[in-house]
Amino acid sequence: MQTSVVILAAGQGKRMNSDLPKVLQPMAGKPLLAHVVGVARELHPANIFVVYGHGGAQVQAALPLDDLDWILQAEQLGTGHAVMQAMAVIPDDEIVLVLYGDVPLVQAATLHALLAAAAQGALALLTVELDDATGYGRIVRDSASGQVLGIVEHKDATSVQLAIREANSGLLAAPAAALRQWLMAIGKNNAQGEYYLTDVVMGAVQNGTPVIAIPVPDRVDVLGVNDKVQLAQVEAAYRARRARELMLNGATLADPTRVDIRGEVTVERDVFIDINVVLEGRVHLGRRVTIEPGCVIRDASIGADTQVKAHSVIENAKVGEDCRIGPFARLRPGTVLDAGVHIGNFVEIKNSHLGSGSKANHLTYLGDATVGRDVNIGAGTITCNYDGANKWPTLIEDGAFVGSGSMLVAPVRVGTGATIGAGSTITSTASAEKLTLTRAKQVTVDHWTRPTKATEAVKSAAVEAALNPPKD
Ligand code: UD1
Ligand code: CA
Repeated sequence: MQTSVVILAAGQGKRMNSDLPKVLQPMAGKPLLAHVVGVARELHPANIFVVYGHGGAQVQAALPLDDLDWILQAEQLGTGHAVMQAMAVIPDDEIVLVLYGDVPLVQAATLHALLAAAAQGALALLTVELDDATGYGRIVRDSASGQVLGIVEHKDATSVQLAIREANSGLLAAPAAALRQWLMAIGKNNAQGEYYLTDVVMGAVQNGTPVIAIPVPDRVDVLGVNDKVQLAQVEAAYRARRARELMLNGATLADPTRVDIRGEVTVERDVFIDINVVLEGRVHLGRRVTIEPGCVIRDASIGADTQVKAHSVIENAKVGEDCRIGPFARLRPGTVLDAGVHIGNFVEIKNSHLGSGSKANHLTYLGDATVGRDVNIGAGTITCNYDGANKWPTLIEDGAFVGSGSMLVAPVRVGTGATIGAGSTITSTASAEKLTLTRAKQVTVDHWTRPTKATEAVKSAAVEAALNPPKD
């Protein structure tokens, strides 16, 4: 049976105190709603409908995904009304699964249980046992049979009902035809004057449809976000889940509460990640990779045995095996390092390829450069790749030795085995196997003496003469 997922995302989220619509608040670097869409996709449904209202255009623009169908709920008249908007385009023979845009941690396995019950013709509710269920709808059961009779919202509950700890997560699944029928029957005669989705339970009970309450296996699945405190809670829960995953795959984390995982991170065994590391986007860490404290790694793959030393930033890069990066190194987009490359402190690399065994150990900028194997780039070397209008490439061939403090003015080539004398400004080809340098000759000035302390009058006369010379 086909499934249509309906994600409710029209609410305003007043308690966030934010200009950003609630469902766009970021968790793990992505909007809350994007997480919900992610889990919906895992179910391979026929359709994913997003019911939107508040911040409409902004919400749509933030998720430009062509597998989403957007349903406008112009006025927020309640969760029942919201689902009704989508029912107009859902055929009778499907299963409808309702998710919330602000409940981002629900897992596919949990939802499969709801879908299985609905496929048998039941109304399936995801419920959660809470010590304090304040604000939640309560599951009301027949005292004798234990059958679910209805859901009563907190604001409508009697004092006896308020003592019930079995709460409604809000997520449910049901056959479309029946759900449509029950929704058409609900009213808004309640404390909030809203069309409650939860009132479909009464409809199901009335026509003898089984109502199955499925307790959530992990409470984290149904954590909702109403304010920034809860946003931090779901972030922490997400972090804990992802950290656990990495550990189970063989990574050692110095402190699982102090690594942030905001993307699809995969690790091989015996990876070690120290504290305060942020991993974002698609990151792959090979066997025995070590990441020291304070590193940020985004969309990168790092080969086996590579050490990333403290406070390095790696973005959109491919690092080979057995490399040594940092401390304080920056690998920018388009960096490709072959095996055994050493990149030291305060070295910035952008859109460049370094062949195996090459080294740039101190204070260097390499941009738009192709560097061969076993090249040594001396401290303070800069590829001058930008002329103010265009970016130009630099080619440094195998075995070259670039002396410290060299400026390589691109486009330029340093030949195989060439040596550049320290402090040179290279503007044309440095020949293979030769020493090239562009230094001014060293001179010694005889009879020169060090300056002595001048009076204020002498100083101001000198300043005046230098800055405002008499016009001729
Ligand atoms: C709802 C449930 C309650 C449950 C709780 C769990 C109802 C009547 N109550 O209450 O039983 O315990 O969730 O968190 O369903 N939304 C719309 N359009 C609307 C109204 C809401 O899209 O007109 C969206 C909101 O953006 C939100 C979700 O639906 O994502 C839930 O709405 P909310 O107002 O937070 O429901 P609760 O009162 O918390
Ligand atoms: Ca809510």
